[in-house]
Amino acid sequence: MEQLKRVILENGSVVSDGVLKVDSFLNHQIDTNLMIKVGKEFASRFKQSNITKVLTLESSGIAPSFMAAQDLGVPLIFARKRKSLTMNNDVYTSTVYSYTKETSNEIAVSKSFLSLGDNVLIIDDFLANGQAALGLANIVEQAGANVSGIGIVIEKSFQEGRSKLEQAGYRVESLARIQSLDNGKVSFLEEKAL
Ligand code: G4P
Ligand code: NA
Ligand code: NA
Repeated sequence: MEQLKRVILENGSVVSDGVLKVDSFLNHQIDTNLMIKVGKEFASRFKQSNITKVLTLESSGIAPSFMAAQDLGVPLIFARKRKSLTMNNDVYTSTVYSYTKETSNEIAVSKSFLSLGDNVLIIDDFLANGQAALGLANIVEQAGANVSGIGIVIEKSFQEGRSKLEQAGYRVESLARIQSLDNGKVSFLEEKAL
């Protein structure tokens, strides 16, 4: 998505160790016009997939998912990050390990919002090691629903997330794919010609 790549080049900054700061339009301040376009792009890529729910993870997944769900005409659900490891019968939970933060977080979705036979589009802001997306997919599968695909705003293609998700058999659509953040510079993967 060319506009997104332009905004990343103009407003993103490489902070350290392969981390891209996008606080001015995605992770703190939100560029609502850009998020509307991002959401519509996800909807367009998955419009043939019979999506019945969009599932994301609070907090930064919500903005880019909102317009996708609206355009597809389906509910948007965000998984909550729970502090407690206590199991509750009314929720599906999954444990997500963050390599960046070196912590494990339990994420949870109420059983009432996912059903057998749902076709779920998972959306997240970043794909790094894939743990968040795999945790969301695990919750979808616990519900007996299908993971119809995974939409990512910014993929760090030099980390292993994408290959893990593809190995698990999921369709992954990333709107910007970053090949490298070396030397403080953002380089995108060349899009393959169709
Ligand atoms: P993974 O899910 O792909 O395995 O990612 P990882 O554990 O490495 O990342 C943990 C958190 O850091 C996630 O946000 C993820 O979106 C974010 N993240 C990963 N790489 C980058 C990066 O280069 N830049 C930025 N800005 N974020 C990155 P989170 O903890 O779920 O936080 P939030 O959704 O509340 O913002
Ligand atoms: Na994030
Ligand atoms: Na995230």
